[in-house]
Amino acid sequence: MSVSTTVWWLVNECEPRTNAGKRQHEPRVQVQRTSRDVALREAAHKLCTGELVAFPTETVYGLGANALDPDALNKVFAAKRRPLDNPLIAHIAAMSQLEMLVSEVSTLARRIMAAFWPGPLSILLPARPDLPRELTAGLPQVAVRMPAHDLALGLIQTTGYPLAAPSANLSGRPSPTSATHVLDDLAGSIAGVLDGGDCSVGIESTVIEARSDRILILRPGAIDERALAQFGVPVEFDPHLRGDGAQVAPRAPGQKYRHYAPQGSLQVVFTSRDDAFWRYAADQLRVIHARGGKVAVLATEREIAADLVMPLGVTPTEAATRLYRVLRECDDANVDLIVARGVAPSTGLADPATTALLNRLYKASGGQFISLD
Ligand code: TXA
Ligand code: MG
Repeated sequence: MSVSTTVWWLVNECEPRTNAGKRQHEPRVQVQRTSRDVALREAAHKLCTGELVAFPTETVYGLGANALDPDALNKVFAAKRRPLDNPLIAHIAAMSQLEMLVSEVSTLARRIMAAFWPGPLSILLPARPDLPRELTAGLPQVAVRMPAHDLALGLIQTTGYPLAAPSANLSGRPSPTSATHVLDDLAGSIAGVLDGGDCSVGIESTVIEARSDRILILRPGAIDERALAQFGVPVEFDPHLRGDGAQVAPRAPGQKYRHYAPQGSLQVVFTSRDDAFWRYAADQLRVIHARGGKVAVLATEREIAADLVMPLGVTPTEAATRLYRVLRECDDANVDLIVARGVAPSTGLADPATTALLNRLYKASGGQFISLD
């Protein structure tokens, strides 16, 4: 079913980020220039009537729905074409909203929330028995997060209940880090999107489970194992993430799906030698060009006849912020092969700041990590 998707473009934002001028001529998009308060009121009204509204967070854009309304949650799965066994994260704006979702909160969980909320951390907590199955996929725990973004918090406050919000992309596409990305995937199938510009973190939240004796990381993110080490209990990765657990089912069901995939093939090349990287890229270029294909090289710019040359970023944090946008640009340019320089070889693969980025690169590349050293 096709609906008109409203873009709330806030009047006080200095620059429109949606390319609103271009998009307002699309039949499925209606651009509305408005104040923050009006935008929040209208968006909350749509959510209260069971419709879907995408909104910015510090990590990626979320596709919001009333977390307590099974019909609205079913629309999320349909719009994203998401498998039904993959549970959603409930987003709250105040600690008082926790009781709408969870039956108890341990002391350790409370300390973690106090340290990192609002922020890019989702925590699994015992779910209330009356929560919709669609939210938890029938699991005993519910993932909860308080996002660090003024529009996200304002929207949750205005609607008055928790919002379920998976990343606002079609399943299998890179997560959206701007309102334009949301429209590229979902224009015509959701009621609206609040345009809050580019997301600052760029990759999804860390997902953890806080047990009495340890913290388990189910999905790495900007809150890394070093930051989580302050609570005096060991911090461990879900065995599925260590790469030695091919037989182990991931605890976060979403981790089993191929995610974040660009349309072209992605190779991530690790080497400490610049010349080795560029020689590898030039060889690939010759092969693909001979077949009439297109090649993107993700590295700090240099003279090479690739169809697209973009730096991913110098630090892992910078690369994480840009990753999904760059992969989408490669898709827009119909690139067949993306050769990316593995990040920050100097910091080593064991540096916590690189864990989340490498996790996303590994998934986006389908495991095509190539070492030239
Ligand atoms: O940064 C984020 O977390 C973004 C923004 C919008 O907040 N949201 C997001 O949602 O990434 P989504 O649905 O794309 O990813 C949710 C992840 C999935 O891997 C899912 O399997 C896991 O969290 N998850 C959610 N609820 C869970 C539960 N009850 N038990 C285990 N894993 C769960
Ligand atoms: Mg997602």
